Amino acid sequence: MCGIVGYVGPKSTLDVLIGGLRRLEYRGYDSAGVSVISPTGHLETRKKAGKLVNLVAEIEEHPLPAAHIGIGHTRWATHGAPTDGNAHPHLGGQTQKLSLIHNGIIENFAELKAELLAEGTSFASETDSEVAAHLIAREFEKTGDLPSAFASVVVRLHGAFTILVIHEDQPDVVLAARRNAPLVIGLGDGENFLGSDVAAFVEHTKRAISVGQDEIVILRADSVEVRTFDGKTVTHEEFTVDWDASAASKGGWSSFMAKEIADQPQAVADTLMGRLNSDGSVRLAEIDGLSHEDIKNLERIIIVACGTASYAGDIAKYGIEKWSRIPVQVELSHEFRYRDPIINKNTLIVAISQSGETMDTLMAIRYAKELGAKVLAICNTQGATLARESDAVIYTHAGPEVAVASTKALTAQITAGFLLGLFLASIRGAVPAAELQRVGLDLLKMPGRVSHVIEGLKQAERLGAEMANAKSVLFLGRNVGFPVAMEGALKLKELAYIHAEGFAAGELKHGPIALIEEGQPVIVIVPSPRDEDSLHPKVISNIQEIRARGAKVIAIAEEGDNQVSSYAENVIFVPECETLLAPILTVIPLQAFALALSTAKGLDVDQPRNLAKSVTVE
Ligand code: F6R
Repeated sequence: MCGIVGYVGPKSTLDVLIGGLRRLEYRGYDSAGVSVISPTGHLETRKKAGKLVNLVAEIEEHPLPAAHIGIGHTRWATHGAPTDGNAHPHLGGQTQKLSLIHNGIIENFAELKAELLAEGTSFASETDSEVAAHLIAREFEKTGDLPSAFASVVVRLHGAFTILVIHEDQPDVVLAARRNAPLVIGLGDGENFLGSDVAAFVEHTKRAISVGQDEIVILRADSVEVRTFDGKTVTHEEFTVDWDASAASKGGWSSFMAKEIADQPQAVADTLMGRLNSDGSVRLAEIDGLSHEDIKNLERIIIVACGTASYAGDIAKYGIEKWSRIPVQVELSHEFRYRDPIINKNTLIVAISQSGETMDTLMAIRYAKELGAKVLAICNTQGATLARESDAVIYTHAGPEVAVASTKALTAQITAGFLLGLFLASIRGAVPAAELQRVGLDLLKMPGRVSHVIEGLKQAERLGAEMANAKSVLFLGRNVGFPVAMEGALKLKELAYIHAEGFAAGELKHGPIALIEEGQPVIVIVPSPRDEDSLHPKVISNIQEIRARGAKVIAIAEEGDNQVSSYAENVIFVPECETLLAPILTVIPLQAFALALSTAKGLDVDQPRNLAKSVTVE
């Protein structure tokens, strides 16, 4: 959480910083601020509570000088309310010549603050971050060596941080440090950049380097040096960002979320690209690191993820187990890490994350690796910490997802999960190859079907808008439809701030049916009538049970399901497909429903309250 950007070079620093913050605003939007050093050597800072527009207005009112070095921050508040005073940057030292921005939490800040207070330092904010600004300024005043002052302080900090610092007395350098929080360097020609992720600078350069754990960056216009906290120089391989800057802009859509829903045919197609042969067999060169022997010896797969990504895991589990016959367990990363799970070298951990920076998921994989498990990441962000720390990565090629609520990343994650299941199954040989290829061939048709669903979203949008006054919406599903129901409910909670829950339809009579009263909206994910396990009649019975008690039912059903219309007030049809693949289609009307309901309530769909896109603190 929190977005950071740093720049040194000939361009207008303010434009680079504000442009970067605009692209990073999804990481937090409680306040924003920038510091620059003017050509005459003066540090100037502007910061403002609220969204970036407030900062932009503040700068219009109190302009900043032209500058060629600066840092910028967009905040998701942890320590201290989202006020102007608590906004970053924070100034350090008696002379206030040092400016610092921070993403993360300094866990030992109280002890460090006590040390500074005892020396008479006064504080301008309630944040943990300001402590680091004063400590670095104090060390610099003693030694006059900014990089060593910086290094001596960052090793004293506990917790998670990316910290950027500039100082009036060293106006050509930005210093940065990273522990348990993301930091990427953008390499330019006579200019260099720092950012929480590549979105911060992708409009200026596509050449990037990921900074490793416990490393310091000394960034100048014409040089970049990376050192470990204990002073050893390190080199990292450069990578090329494959996002186009325009992919991270709204491009005429009313919101990023609307655009990202519409991006889904491409996201699914790009995730499949190069991984499915025309005969339906799967090749996943990315996991060559796992030998056939390793795969044959696997005793268990544990999928770790949070939120929407965990629902992708829940959905993938059905396919992976059915095709490969390897037992799969899906765990919320934060629960997994703290419950002493049973793991050995024959356990494969699959970590799913759009950002690749979710701290809970990173902690989970680090723990699993300590216990000897291999880790495979399904990740959407190149150069992310998760990708770097995993033994292998299947990238979802959904492109940048900016809206806080995940949409296209989810459908890409489900797609990648199914590819993994088919691949493992092809090696394990528990299911005939022809059956796997039949599913693979059907998977190849999914982008076209996703397009078809998107073309028909008007009905879901109308129903969402009509329910703007609903106090609660329930979602029911069975089998692969169950995690889809939970995802539908999560989208509604986070976007429309109303009570929503997803239940397994079979669980209804064990309690949740008591919630049903006259007029209660219930969205039901109806399995295919062609389903061999006869789940369809069971769900139809569930619909009858809730309708008898007054529920207003919206069904998401397969085209050609002639029965369902007699039982539901409204039916949204999606195309036929292999039954296990259906979530890639059925989840989309739920995204559109939540978007329309939230919009009808006049809410900010891209930046819902209290949330941030990447949860980089535990
Ligand atoms: C909900 C949503 C979140 C994320 C979760 C994990 O719409 O976006 O629930 O799915 O915070 O984030 P990543 O995938 O970045 O690890």
